[in-house]
Amino acid sequence: MSETLVKAAPGGAVQTGNGRGLLRFLTCGSVDVGKSTLIGRLLYDSKLIFEDQLASLERDSKKHGTVGEDIDLALLVDGLEAERQQGITIDVAYRFFTTPNRSFIVADTPGHEQYTRNMATGASNADLAVILIDARKGVLTQTRRHSYICSLLGVKHLVVAVNKIDLEGYSQQVFDRIVADYLDFAKTLGFETITPIPMSARYGDNVYTRSDKLPWFKGKTLIEHLETIDVESTAAAKAFRFPVQWVNRPNLDFRGFSGTVASGVVKPGDKVVVAASGRETQVERIVTYDGDLAEARAGDAVTLTLKDEVDIARGDLLVPPTARPEVADQFAAHLLWMTDEPLLPGRSYLMRIGTQVSPVKVTALKHKIDVDTLEHLAGRTLALNEIGFCNFSTANPIAFDPYVDNRETGAFILIDRYTNATVGAGMVSFGLRRAANIHRQSLLVGREEREKLNGHKPAVLWFTGLSGSGKSTIANLVERELHDRGVRTFLLDGDNVRHGLNRDLGFSDADRVENVRRVGEVAKLFVEAGVVVLCSFISPFKAERRMARELFAEGEFLEVFVDTPIEDCIKRDPKGLYAKALKGEIANFTGISSPYERPEAAELVLDTAGSEPAASARRVVDHLIALGIV
Ligand code: ADX
Repeated sequence: MSETLVKAAPGGAVQTGNGRGLLRFLTCGSVDVGKSTLIGRLLYDSKLIFEDQLASLERDSKKHGTVGEDIDLALLVDGLEAERQQGITIDVAYRFFTTPNRSFIVADTPGHEQYTRNMATGASNADLAVILIDARKGVLTQTRRHSYICSLLGVKHLVVAVNKIDLEGYSQQVFDRIVADYLDFAKTLGFETITPIPMSARYGDNVYTRSDKLPWFKGKTLIEHLETIDVESTAAAKAFRFPVQWVNRPNLDFRGFSGTVASGVVKPGDKVVVAASGRETQVERIVTYDGDLAEARAGDAVTLTLKDEVDIARGDLLVPPTARPEVADQFAAHLLWMTDEPLLPGRSYLMRIGTQVSPVKVTALKHKIDVDTLEHLAGRTLALNEIGFCNFSTANPIAFDPYVDNRETGAFILIDRYTNATVGAGMVSFGLRRAANIHRQSLLVGREEREKLNGHKPAVLWFTGLSGSGKSTIANLVERELHDRGVRTFLLDGDNVRHGLNRDLGFSDADRVENVRRVGEVAKLFVEAGVVVLCSFISPFKAERRMARELFAEGEFLEVFVDTPIEDCIKRDPKGLYAKALKGEIANFTGISSPYERPEAAELVLDTAGSEPAASARRVVDHLIALGIV
């Protein structure tokens, strides 16, 4: 079988037929430690290279190689031209190879420290990691970093490959010292096995062939170890988990639930419950295109039919009644941040866990983790490649298992709601029961009665715009006019709220998100009280304006964009703040050193350049009258 290159993580079980099941492993280590050479050696010695590849390898070795006249095996795997030129590996490449005893998928992950996220991608479904250490350099910061990420991502078995031992004269002392160092560091990381092997990937010592230059080493060669290690804490041994991908209803006589078994085994007749609702039923049939099955196991894509008509939708998780997952809307998890724009606690992201999708916020960043020292650090945001331990709050309850128990149902990704980019990857630790024993108290006076007494409907007028744009001036005039008409109103103003409720907040992106979140919640209480509430906040980010909008019913929230060009705001400068900001005396000043994202679909846009504040206020009031709110 030839070597294949797969760019996406291959999922599910693969039947290999030759003895032990498939082994997924990854290689990691610092730059220049010889990872690509090792993988090249594994492929080369397993006779997977064809004549034409060999010829081009010889040519390339002369052009790009780093090993003189020899064939540079690293070139075999460092496929990308950009990588060759930079001399670093910048993507995760999955390669399949096989020996008479086992089949393997190896993830070649980058050593460059900026690429933590790629390494995490490779580790997320690996059974084993080969951590390479350069015999000349010993345990490095990146060795520790990679080991920690492997442990965080649930890799249970490690090979410590002390490579380039030829350059240290095949010395046992060097090997022993490095291994002792490493074990001292790794003892707290919870690996099930750690297997040190001295080797030279370049010359093949102890990769496939036992080296006569290392007579003092009595352990297995790398390939012997990989062929024989038992990693059978596999997905099939775990509790049954079936995330419903779609409801299959081709006609009125058939209703099945399609998806891939995430873990465990299921048979017709087994009792199952819908995790979120707790509704119980029994599996009737396991349907596939090739006929019904007597059982389905982790990795099998099947359609289940059930005995009863139970309400089940895409995203539901079917589980055994005796081994249920947690169902919660608050939980704690490790989060690896994977994008340039930092994490903003309080911002709404989309979370995808299995087939479930829910809006989610980080409610607290408990600490960041220095992956080099494993120290806990205080922090307010996570930057690219940083890892934090966070509390999360989802809009809907989700079903999950702690990641240590089940990697399939305990891992999630965060998605940016505007760009749809994956921005983070998480590993759930435990559910939070902070809101336990808190129920909704029903109130004797209802919203409609309050509206009747007030004689008008409630609403939110959300004024957004630059500092000095005239938001507060216009909002004040609107309130005056409404009040005079007998409308119950209240004006929440940025500067005022920051003297009380939000006095702990500054102007970092994270604090602005929290500022708007709190104001949104307060406005909601006012709306429940039947009041027309005017909010005057720069609120520079569209994500948070949308978050505020989503707190209210359709038509209740009116975004009023006070569209004053920054030049005019600077000219007016009512508080002298622009002058200071331009001199660099105020950090993160909106429009100067911090962005303002213009609204795209505000209900009202007030162009203040050519009109008096009173005229703008008139337009707002007229709009409310036209909508029948007052
Ligand atoms: S928001 O961005 O979080 O919505 P908010 O409306 O509460 O801002 O507060 C803005 C007011 O704070 C401004 O009108 C200005 O008076 C004052 N301010 C002080 N520092 C800054 C800053 N760095 N950026 C913007 N406004 C600031």
